[in-house]
Amino acid sequence: MSDKPIAIVTGGAGFIGSHMVDLLVERGFAVRVIDSLIGGREANLVRHANNADVSLRKADIREFQPGDRLFEGVRYVFHFAGIGDIVPSIERPLEYMSINVQGTVHMLECSRAANGGRGVTKFVYAASSSCYGLARTPTREDHPIEPQYPYALSKYQGEQAAFHWYQVYRLPVNSIRIFNAYGTRSRTSGAYGAVFGVFLKQKLAGKPFTVVGDGTQTRDFLYVTDIARAFLLAAETEMSGEVWNLGAGNPQPVNLLVELLGGPVVHIPKRPGEPDCTFADIGKIERELRWAQQVRFEDGVGKILDNIDYWRDAPLWDPDSIAKATSGWFRAFSAENRP
Ligand SMILES: NC(=O)c1ccc[n+]([C@@H]2O[C@H](COP(=O)([O-])OP(=O)(O)OC[C@H]3O[C@@H](n4cnc5c(N)ncnc54)[C@H](O)[C@@H]3O)[C@@H](O)[C@H]2O)c1
Repeated sequence: MSDKPIAIVTGGAGFIGSHMVDLLVERGFAVRVIDSLIGGREANLVRHANNADVSLRKADIREFQPGDRLFEGVRYVFHFAGIGDIVPSIERPLEYMSINVQGTVHMLECSRAANGGRGVTKFVYAASSSCYGLARTPTREDHPIEPQYPYALSKYQGEQAAFHWYQVYRLPVNSIRIFNAYGTRSRTSGAYGAVFGVFLKQKLAGKPFTVVGDGTQTRDFLYVTDIARAFLLAAETEMSGEVWNLGAGNPQPVNLLVELLGGPVVHIPKRPGEPDCTFADIGKIERELRWAQQVRFEDGVGKILDNIDYWRDAPLWDPDSIAKATSGWFRAFSAENRP
């Protein structure tokens, strides 16, 4: 056995988790990945295939019980495992609450029981800015919490559970509320979701980009390697019980993304419950963790275009299939269905 410090990355075969694994290996950690592969791919870890210090346990986080040997000797747990996307969460709330909330509780309990009951040194939770709902911008950590759909609620309740384990059991926990992550290995399969995956496949297929509304809406996009660095800082800090927003603090219009990717456009209807602007106030993380963005938006989009083949197997969306996929969303948010 090597004498490297050990970290667990749940969801480590996914988009952000796999970049977290890369960073930890680079910084001299042995890494144990837990992933059910429901959304992630083993191929995302292929660069570590010959590294005996990186292992993958293919399992559902809800199967783990306190005392599981995988948690022995572990210093940090980075909890990224979970399911995303708005539309399926409106259709299947039970599954979202089960994985994102109860699954988190299983990871917290295993982290508390680790190391002969002394617990791990830090548990870092991947929270979502969606907890703020249709927020005032720039959005600070003390903004009211107003989840608009079950995904947002489940991620927030997972965060609440993490802080409860800090409060009741003194498990050292920090949480990072991610705004809009983008980068290589972002998810390519499944539900209609984040704009990058949708546009990249459309570009590969020579089809128009399906821009929602007039495209002037802005998103606080942050490149994935900048996110992984923030999570490591959140583990290494002496502080616990803290929450930090994480974005670039510099929202970009969807129209700029279209311009950088290059191609024709078709406009589709704006959706209820979706903010016109996401914009993180990142003062707290800059001050307290001395984190700073390193990858500019234009450079990040360039890196993605260099790897565009990754999205070849992604589903191809067009205005009709998007209208079908989002019909439940429109129903759930229509005025007569809201109190
Ligand atoms: N991507 C973003 O912009 C964003 C924004 C806010 C929060 N987050 C959060 O960050 C985390 C990672 O997001 P991502 O974009 O990398 O998503 P992703 O889908 O690429 O990664 C999630 C990983 O978790 C795994 N997983 C899901 N359910 C599991 C289960 N029950 N047991 C074990 N593994 C399971 C999936 O197989 C996948 O590999 C998620 O918790 C997400 O809610 C992401």
